[in-house]
Amino acid sequence: MAALQRIKGTNDILPDHLGSGIFRLGLWHRLEETALRVAALSGYHEIRTPIFESTELFVRGLGDVTDVVKKEMFSFTDRGERQLTLRPEGTASIVRAWIENGIGNSDSVARLAYLGPMFRAERPQKGRYRQFHQFGIECIGGAEVRHDIEVIAVFWNIIRTLGVHAVSLKINSVGCPTCIPRYREVLRAHFEPSLKDLCGDCSERHKTNVLRMLDCKNPACQDILSSAPPLTDYLCEECAAAWAGLRHGLDLLQIPWQHDTRLVRGLDYYTKTAFEIVHEAIGAQGTIVGGGRYDGLVAASGGPAVPAVGGAFGVERMLLAMQAEDPTLPLRERPRFFLVQIGDEVDDDIERLLFELRLHGIHALRADGSRQLGKQMRAAAKLASREVVFVGGQEWNSGTLLIKDMDSGEQESIVVGSYGVLACLLKRAGIER
Ligand code: HAM
Repeated sequence: MAALQRIKGTNDILPDHLGSGIFRLGLWHRLEETALRVAALSGYHEIRTPIFESTELFVRGLGDVTDVVKKEMFSFTDRGERQLTLRPEGTASIVRAWIENGIGNSDSVARLAYLGPMFRAERPQKGRYRQFHQFGIECIGGAEVRHDIEVIAVFWNIIRTLGVHAVSLKINSVGCPTCIPRYREVLRAHFEPSLKDLCGDCSERHKTNVLRMLDCKNPACQDILSSAPPLTDYLCEECAAAWAGLRHGLDLLQIPWQHDTRLVRGLDYYTKTAFEIVHEAIGAQGTIVGGGRYDGLVAASGGPAVPAVGGAFGVERMLLAMQAEDPTLPLRERPRFFLVQIGDEVDDDIERLLFELRLHGIHALRADGSRQLGKQMRAAAKLASREVVFVGGQEWNSGTLLIKDMDSGEQESIVVGSYGVLACLLKRAGIER
């Protein structure tokens, strides 16, 4: 019978010694731990929400003419005839949870972080999947520009802590309901005469969501689209002040930024600040982080009129960036000792020793299968074990411990004496009894 396979655009994340590339759990754990720890330095703490929600939540929140809602949601009807959707992003759910659980009110700032799988029916390619993972933070109630800067700074800090450097921060302001209608009219009028030279998507967006025209990636449209007047020339007084404050705050922290006049983001809830962090070396799907301010979403979701700002990065893309910069990324934890068996009669000794080492919190392994010396040594090397301990053979029988350092290749003999093998190994691993 043919074996069943995973669905295109999804991935198995394997234990380190089985996987390759970015789909190794050790790397994921390191990234997740780093992101949560760095976010906590600024007061962001984890929240977990369900993986599916009512379809209505995303239609209302993200905008019914966005690509995500129109074409990319995994939606289904359950047995009770409810319309449900696998979450395509985190923000709408976090806002719902904030309202539903009474996490805050209009006088407080809630700082929330989240991690987990998201689902979008996009065309799969490197860095773009149908089940992918995001780490995000949301600052709900954060009304000031310093909150926008705080959010960007958290992502900047995470990226730096993970050893990623070849990135650029792109910023823009997408205005607010006071100034954006006027700019929409300006854009419509600007593109009207060129519609015949633009792609079908552009013509469609000209009618439904003219701002999104600026986001078109079709090479044939680029010249015309770049001629658009920048949105930041049409901001109302409040948005213009926020835009100036954003640039000032980033300069103060010496976070380099570029003004991308065509950055409008793919979701409709954004107001004022929009930002993306792009990696230069991971190809077409180079946007690692995306986010911005969404002052209208809480009220549009049935909550009070509370402003908010946040962002999220794609875990897979961040891992691609980490690997692009350091292809020899170390695995999460190397076995401290690998016990190599010499002779059948030491089988019980090995089992007891492994058990006792692990009781003391030491990562210690042995080979499965063949007892051939060469095969055991290869298994030790494959797991990147730090030291091999030879159990059995002449030295062992005469009370000497033979240990090989797998990095330097040097061998050392230690007289066990009355001390005992376990105590010798514990001492070596820095544990005194
Ligand atoms: P987004 O730009 O749609 O924003 O997604 C954020 C990040 O998720 C992207 O920059 C990318 O790294 C990753 N991503 C998105 N789609 C895929 C995919 N199909 N495969 C792999 N990675 C992907 C949001 O989702 C907003 N909720 C961010 C936000 C939070 N804004 C305010 N708060």
